[in-house]
Amino acid sequence: MSEPVTAQDLIDLGERVLQDSTHLFDDHDNRLEAEQLLAFSLDIDHDDLDADLEPPRRTRERYLSLIARRAGGEPFPFLTGSIEFYGLDLKVKPGAFVPRPSSELTVARAVKRLKGRRKPLVVDVCAGAAPIALAIADEVPGAEVWALDIDEEALRQGRGNARRLGIRNMHTRATDMYEGLPADLEGKIDVITGHVPYVPQGELEDMPTEVRDHEPIYTLTDESEDGLTLMRRAIVEGAPLLRPGGWMLMEMSDDLAKKVRKLYRKADLEDHGVASDDDGLSIVVEGRKPKESRGPTKAAR
Ligand SMILES: C[S@@+](CC[C@H](N)C(=O)[O-])C[C@H]1O[C@@H](n2cnc3c(N)ncnc32)[C@H](O)[C@@H]1O
Repeated sequence: MSEPVTAQDLIDLGERVLQDSTHLFDDHDNRLEAEQLLAFSLDIDHDDLDADLEPPRRTRERYLSLIARRAGGEPFPFLTGSIEFYGLDLKVKPGAFVPRPSSELTVARAVKRLKGRRKPLVVDVCAGAAPIALAIADEVPGAEVWALDIDEEALRQGRGNARRLGIRNMHTRATDMYEGLPADLEGKIDVITGHVPYVPQGELEDMPTEVRDHEPIYTLTDESEDGLTLMRRAIVEGAPLLRPGGWMLMEMSDDLAKKVRKLYRKADLEDHGVASDDDGLSIVVEGRKPKESRGPTKAAR
């Protein structure tokens, strides 16, 4: 086969190589990724790509080496150094969980639940590099958003993006779950969001290289059999932090919804069902603290 020279040929080849890779999730849009990597190599916008363009040899080599790295399992945002998340250009580095486009649903649900609140308080637990917290803080400038994570390095990345983007209403705390949240916020939180690790221990080895070899293991799993130890803590320890009428919004894969809704009910949260988006990759389970606190049950008195 002759060497690919035009943008069209290079994209076709890149798409095929990514499709054949066994190191990636199979739900990526490989053609789009190939186009984006070619645009990145050419230092032009994706929209300006022209199928008949003939990139110089050095650019072609650069592009093919990026395709090879991607096919080997490197997360896409590590190749370009950034990801667009809820309209924000976030810089991304190895060492933390890579923000997923599917988490935009969590942001959208939080923004909906915050509508009409003038100075709402938001907690994003297991915030990582804080894409969810940053996007909420940006969308709802009157909100005070707390991003909590056990990993200071991930939060440092979040703070870097906040500075660059001029987002000033996000605070970060390196802490085990909610422990580092100021005590005077207890019972006042309007929305808790959480994209908590939830992969069961036994399913880790089924994850592709792009996840297993490039994201710290504690970002994926709490290493319990059902994967829900941290989820339980997020719900049980989070419920008392909510104000009456406040919302708990946990992101996960849809197979976990039933179990998590049960955990909500056990924590005395009203079950408001499951939100999903078109691609159905992730869902958000929604619960609400009753407006009138029911007080202790007979058995607990
Ligand atoms: C699935 S990642 C999600 C990160 C971020 N919310 C996002 O969507 O990009 C889970 C995060 O939980 C954090 N984590 C793990 N154990 C924790 C704990 N005990 N307390 C707080 N955060 C924890 C990890 O450091 C990781 O950043």
